[in-house]
Formats: sequence, structure tokens, C-alpha cells
Amino acid sequence: MKKTVLVTGGAGYIGSHTAVELVGAGYGVVIADNLSNSDAGAVEGVRRITGVEVPFERIDCNDGAAMNALFTRHAVDAVIHFAAFKAVGESVAEPLKYYSNNVGSFVTLLGSMRTAGVENVVFSSSATVYGQPGTLPATERTPRQPATSPYGATKQICEDILRDAVSACNGLHGIALRYFNPIGAHPSALIGELPRGVPANLVPFITQTAAGIRGELSIFGDDYPTPDGTALRDYIDVVDLARAHVVAVERMLYGAQREPYEVFNIGTGRPVSVMELVKGFERANGVKVPCRVVGRRPGDVEAVWADTTLAATILGWRSDRPLDETLRTAWAWQLSLKD
Ligand code: NAD
Ligand code: UD1
Repeated sequence: MKKTVLVTGGAGYIGSHTAVELVGAGYGVVIADNLSNSDAGAVEGVRRITGVEVPFERIDCNDGAAMNALFTRHAVDAVIHFAAFKAVGESVAEPLKYYSNNVGSFVTLLGSMRTAGVENVVFSSSATVYGQPGTLPATERTPRQPATSPYGATKQICEDILRDAVSACNGLHGIALRYFNPIGAHPSALIGELPRGVPANLVPFITQTAAGIRGELSIFGDDYPTPDGTALRDYIDVVDLARAHVVAVERMLYGAQREPYEVFNIGTGRPVSVMELVKGFERANGVKVPCRVVGRRPGDVEAVWADTTLAATILGWRSDRPLDETLRTAWAWQLSLKD
């Protein structure tokens, strides 16, 4: 029988792409989102791409009664928990908002899952848990560094909560996926990232600058000890990232998971500098991105990229979309927002 996956935060950037891939892989999907950082249009986008009337529940995951009721309305086999706030700067200014929403919603979700007897959960973690790793690439065994923001702290805390909940509760399976830098959009340009206000992340800032919404891109530092002096990251295509969730769910539901709690890096394994990304975007799309080098951004690390061996060998997953294709989807999405 068709298995059903609850996707919390499924109207958001990564959740909507994951919902599409899950439907494509034959799963039933329920989206739960309070639309605090998204728009119901993303759910429509998922429905248009898949041709399936994916159910949408407008729910705050902190609301335990509403979550319990949701699990009685839908027979859920696994949950992917994307719902969280993610703005690093805002988390420094409003830490309680972040601890309350990100940690609170996960605890509430795990409680409702227990009540409902749902035993499989994938958690959205982040490469931010590594800080600046002492050795690169970062493997899953690379020690986590003390968090440099409340946002980063919530990812570490939620990983620990999941580990502890799994060890206390016979039958519960958890997988934490540590995403590196998700970029790009669905090739249909029907769903993508919707930054609110001035984007903090690099690719949305590039696409808005190319579109003339921003005057120029500030490149934060060209004096890092890297080949061209700009910082190195591991930019992962959002559809490839979405596929990683499908294989993680597959692993939990079909019995291949050996340890009840597992952690995987989800990246490409390929370091790309800020300058390379900007030039690559210009080349891929035939557009100019006015830019200027400014000082380093406080809190930034100089270089982080993934060792992807574990995801490749255990999950059988790897990213295969070339960077220029991903950068074309990012631009197509930006252009679609003008219509
Ligand atoms: P997003 O903001 O686009 O999506 C998150 C969704 O969760 C939004 O639709 C929002 O409305 C919803 N939401 C937030 N709090 C909620 C609550 N209490 N109840 C119900 N819905 C709620 O963000 P995203 O980029 O898709 O990120 C998804 C997850 O991946 C987050 O947990 C984020 O921290 C994590 N992550 C993202 C990145 C990235 O660069 N985008 C990197 C690493 C990890
Ligand atoms: C940031 C967050 C990280 C989060 C990730 C989500 C910080 C310190 N870290 O990571 O916790 O998980 O987003 O994607 O905020 N850059 C510019 N100009 C810009 C924007 C960015 O030069 O206008 C540079 C940055 O200095 C960095 C690179 O581009 O070197 C990538 O930046 P960004 O997209 O913000 O991601 P991270 O800093 O890796």
C-alpha cells in the first residue's frame, strides 16, 4: 500500500521541492505549514507540477492539540520536519523566537508522533553545526563546534533531542540530514526560494542583483586563505537535496536502516568560491552581476564543504546536477517572479 509522508514546513523552499520528489516516487504526501515564511502558492506549485491534489494543513507545529488531530486525520508513516525559522541574523536579535519555534516545534512533533504511533522522522539539520572544521572536507565524524548563533544552536539541540528520543523509545527511527548550501529551483520555475526583504544568502542576492532589484552584490571578503581569496562553500541543488529525503525515508520505511539514529551530510563534495559562483552565474545565464568586494561578514567561516562518502555508500545518493544547470534554474525562478 502507498505510504504517506507528512512534510512539515512543506510550503517552504526545501519542503515544497521534497513534496514534489516524494509524489514522483509514489508516496502520499501531506503538507503542514503555518505559512509564517511562505505562501500557499507553493502548495499550488507542488500540485501543478505533480498533478496531484496534495492535502495542505495550515497548522502551527507548536500546537500539540492541532498536531495530534492532524495525525488522526491522516495515516502517516513517516515525517520530514522542515518547519523552522532560518534567518541567522534574526536569531541573534530574537533568540527566544528561534528556540521556541525551532526546538519547541520539534519536541511537540515528537510527542504527537509518539501518541499517534508514528516511528520515522527525518530532521533538517545544517552544515552550520560544523562551524569552521579543523580539517576539510567535513565528515559526519568531524566534531561539531560551539554554535555561533541561536539558529545554529537550535540545529545542534534538535539533533541531540532526536538522538535521545530514539535511544529512549524503542521503535523510533531518526535521520538527521546536514544540508550544505541549498540553491536553485525546480526546473519548471513553479516553485523556488522566496526570500523576504533583502536576501542574506548569496544566490538570491545574485539573482535579485541580476534582475536589477539590488544595485550591486557585496562580496564579503577577498582575503581568505583560499585560491581566489573568497570564501568556499558547497552549493547543493535543491532538487538533488529533495531526492536525498526520498532515499532517507525509503531507508527508514523499508528496513535498510542499521542504526536507529543516523546522520548524513548532504552536499556535492565540491568547494566553490563566492567569485566562482558569481562568474558561473554570469556565464550560465548570459547576464551581468555588478559586484564589489567589501569586508568580511562577521560570523562567516572561510571554507566548508562536505565529504559525501557516507550518503553515497549508505543511502546510494549523490548530487548529479551540474552547477551551471542549477544556476540556470535559479535565474529562471527569479524571472518567473517578475510576471
Ligand atoms: P523556509 O523558511 O522556506 O521553509 C520553512 C517552512 O516552515 C516555511 O514554509 C514556514 O512557513 C514553515 N514554518 C516555520 N515554523 C513553523 C511552525 N511552527 N509550524 C508550521 N510551519 C512552520 O526554509 P527552507 O530553506 O525550506 O528550510 C527548511 C529547513 O531546512 C529548515 O529547518 C532550515 O533550518 C533547514 N536548513 C535550511 C538551509 C537553507 O539554506 N535553506 C540550510 C540548512 C538547513
Ligand atoms: C548561511 C548561514 C548558515 C545557514 C546557511 C543557509 C551565516 C553565518 N551562516 O551560511 O547558518 O545554514 O546560510 O544557507 O549566516 N556572501 C557574499 N555576499 C552576499 C551574501 C553572501 O559574499 O551578499 C558570501 C558569504 O560571505 C559566504 C557565501 O557567500 O561566504 C555564502 O553565503 P550564504 O549564502 O549566506 O551561506 P553561508 O554563509 O554558508
